[in-house]
Amino acid sequence: MAKLLEVENLSISFTQYVQGLNRHDSRVISDLTIDVDESEIVAVLGSSGSGKSLLAHSILGILPYNSHVTGEIRYKGQTLDQDLKEKLRGDEICLIPQSVNFLDPLMKVSEQAIGECKDDAEHKERKVRQREIFARYGLDESVDNLYPFELSGGMARKVLLSTALIEDPDLLIADEPTPGLDKKSVEETISDIKNLKEHGKGVLLITHEIDAALKTADRIAIFYSGYVIEINDVKNFSSSETVLHPYTKALIDSLPRNGFKLTEGVQPLGEIPGCPYYENCPIRTDRCNKERPELEEHDGVMIRCFNFKEANDGA
Ligand SMILES: Nc1ncnc2c1ncn2[C@@H]1O[C@H](COP(=O)(O)OP(=O)(O)OP(=O)(O)O)[C@@H](O)[C@H]1O
Ligand code: SF4
Ligand SMILES: [Mg+2]
Repeated sequence: MAKLLEVENLSISFTQYVQGLNRHDSRVISDLTIDVDESEIVAVLGSSGSGKSLLAHSILGILPYNSHVTGEIRYKGQTLDQDLKEKLRGDEICLIPQSVNFLDPLMKVSEQAIGECKDDAEHKERKVRQREIFARYGLDESVDNLYPFELSGGMARKVLLSTALIEDPDLLIADEPTPGLDKKSVEETISDIKNLKEHGKGVLLITHEIDAALKTADRIAIFYSGYVIEINDVKNFSSSETVLHPYTKALIDSLPRNGFKLTEGVQPLGEIPGCPYYENCPIRTDRCNKERPELEEHDGVMIRCFNFKEANDGA
């Protein structure tokens, strides 16, 4: 399978000025590596504030002005620089944004979904597709002429979904696409995402709902404190014995109790010399507090931990 998206050693930090002139740089994403193949759904699972939306926005080239980015992003083997991001955005690469603020408040929602057209014939063709997708999500014709402020939260989310799917993108970045949706629309969304995959497309599904990731993804990347700590096949998430990182194991063991939601434990932020999971890790050693483990491949699994072999051999 050809690689569609490759993110290599991506770090994102922000420059802020505290009390006037005191400059402060805060690192939010560190050394992030992830990839999506054609015909593949990769879920990024992380708790609130762990940098998931920033990852999405960096791929689309819509990060805030005070951000500083290092690392490389490639799309179909080509470096995804700002020019290429702008060229492909909303066309080959589409975003289902997390926030409904992405809707243009001054434009009727059907026209936003249809987008720019070169002539009337194209507009007519896209209007048919817009209506078809809106109808699939239970948005009847009366919705077409509404402005975003006239929509309920759930309707606005459905408009965002439809607007991304109307393009039939090669790469879809879905940033928390399902919260706030009714059960039928959640199922519809999952089915649409899977349908893209069946047609050779790639999807990066960003979520803090493990259940959605387990039902949809081929691989799951676990985010902890701005680092990817494990990328593993979805089938291995059925038991804590078949995942490798101590945090992933703790996560899976806690699932039935917490209703399949990520626990919101305190995660260290900013520059730390050692492993980000050091404070909570049951198998830590002195080395872990001094040196930071790299994300490395082990039998097809990407893992960031010095001691996982010993821990898993002993299991
Ligand atoms: N413009 C900015 N300046 C400074 N910090 C920012 C800026 N934008 C985002 N951040 C910080 O980056 C961190 C990650 O934000 P992000 O929105 O990517 O998290 P998330 O994982 O998507 O969370 P959620 O699950 O709640 O959507 C947050 O702590 C946020 O405060
Ligand atoms: S590197 Fe050390 S502290 Fe970090 S997860 Fe592995 S054993 Fe635990
Ligand atoms: Mg987010």
